[in-house]
Amino acid sequence: MITLCHVDDIEEGTSKGFEVAGKFLFAVKKDGDMFLYYNYCPHLGTPLEWLDDQFLDSDGALIQCSTHGALFLIDSGKCILGPCKGKSLKAIPFILGNGFMMVEEQQVSSLGRI
Ligand code: FES
Repeated sequence: MITLCHVDDIEEGTSKGFEVAGKFLFAVKKDGDMFLYYNYCPHLGTPLEWLDDQFLDSDGALIQCSTHGALFLIDSGKCILGPCKGKSLKAIPFILGNGFMMVEEQQVSSLGRI
């Protein structure tokens, strides 16, 4: 298991990027819940953020790809607007232990094209 961060390290309504086993992930905290996705846009496979840790639209309601503006639901990763509408970000399973988000390294290292 690899520890990403403590849930308190991410403020409500914000996001944070991680590099694990050479792959990029990002977490979002929304309404107290945590979500973790592969940082890989289903449109062209690019990372989504426009600046470090900036994965959300201007009001923090949706995940936004900075390349062509696709918008994704935070709780499911489903694209609701943009060139990959109907596709989804890949959710990454994680566990919470004493408030720390942890992932299986093998599960992350095997991520490829989606
Ligand atoms: S690469 Fe993400 S919307 Fe085109």
